[in-house]
Amino acid sequence: MSQPVVYLNGKFIPKNEALIPAEDRGFIFGDGIYEVVRVIEGRLFAWDAHAARMADGLAGLRISGTGAESATLKAVCERLVKDNGLAKGEATIYLQVTRGAAPRLHHFPPANTPTTVYGSASKFTPNLPMREKGATGITYADIRWSRCDLKTVNLLGPVLARQAAAEAGAYEAILHRDGMVTEGAATNCCAVINGVLRTAPLSNYILPGITRAVLLPLARELGVKVEERSFTLRELPSVEELFVCGTTTDVQAIVTLDGKPIGTGAPGPITVKLRDALAARLYGR
Ligand code: PDD
Repeated sequence: MSQPVVYLNGKFIPKNEALIPAEDRGFIFGDGIYEVVRVIEGRLFAWDAHAARMADGLAGLRISGTGAESATLKAVCERLVKDNGLAKGEATIYLQVTRGAAPRLHHFPPANTPTTVYGSASKFTPNLPMREKGATGITYADIRWSRCDLKTVNLLGPVLARQAAAEAGAYEAILHRDGMVTEGAATNCCAVINGVLRTAPLSNYILPGITRAVLLPLARELGVKVEERSFTLRELPSVEELFVCGTTTDVQAIVTLDGKPIGTGAPGPITVKLRDALAARLYGR
């Protein structure tokens, strides 16, 4: 089978030829950021928001001179979609920018050190049976650092949380810090409490999810009352509905948590309404 085409530092090349120096700071320190973008029929969903979050992440890590401006990266994404035969159906794009390769010293390398810019595209099939039926979750301590608003490639918290979920036969880990629910390991998290949609407010403790940003105004348009106010770990077992959302997760009901049913044990009415509204937005229906 022919190799997928990937992008590395200005070149479109076969994936097996995309070699990163061993001293790349992404490898050594996790010193970089990434994005995952949904592609539907060749169209990049919410590109401007992803590009803005990347720019914020690079600024947050003080990585500059990447040449990774929105228009350049958008053209890279579009070419990756085309060259990999993904213009029909669904795909995801993965983008990563690191501070580049340099001898291992914690402080920044010289300003003229070239950054590493990588992109790939893959076919994507949403898990529609799980969207319909609901998924299982576990609760897990949020052990991440205190700049969770930056989408860095340093993903040890989510890796350990998702592994704990996998070992428990669950889909997602719902993270909590100081008794408050923050988000999912790789998703934002919403609950319905007394008929009101609740989710943690934007802060340094959660990722400003693009799906979250699309969904909250959509919910308000549909007449759902929304409060960006955290709920507690203690409240969780008695919430009426629970769901997580993200680029590859859409709106995904969590119907059992730590082995106990949430609400009726099936996706609730507000979750279903928002799931369908997001699908309409994604697929332009
Ligand atoms: N994860 N919170 C965390 C910690 C995430 O890693 C993600 C995305 C989200 C949802 O953000 P968005 O709606 O922009 O995808 C929230 C990506 C998809 C991943 O790591 O693969």
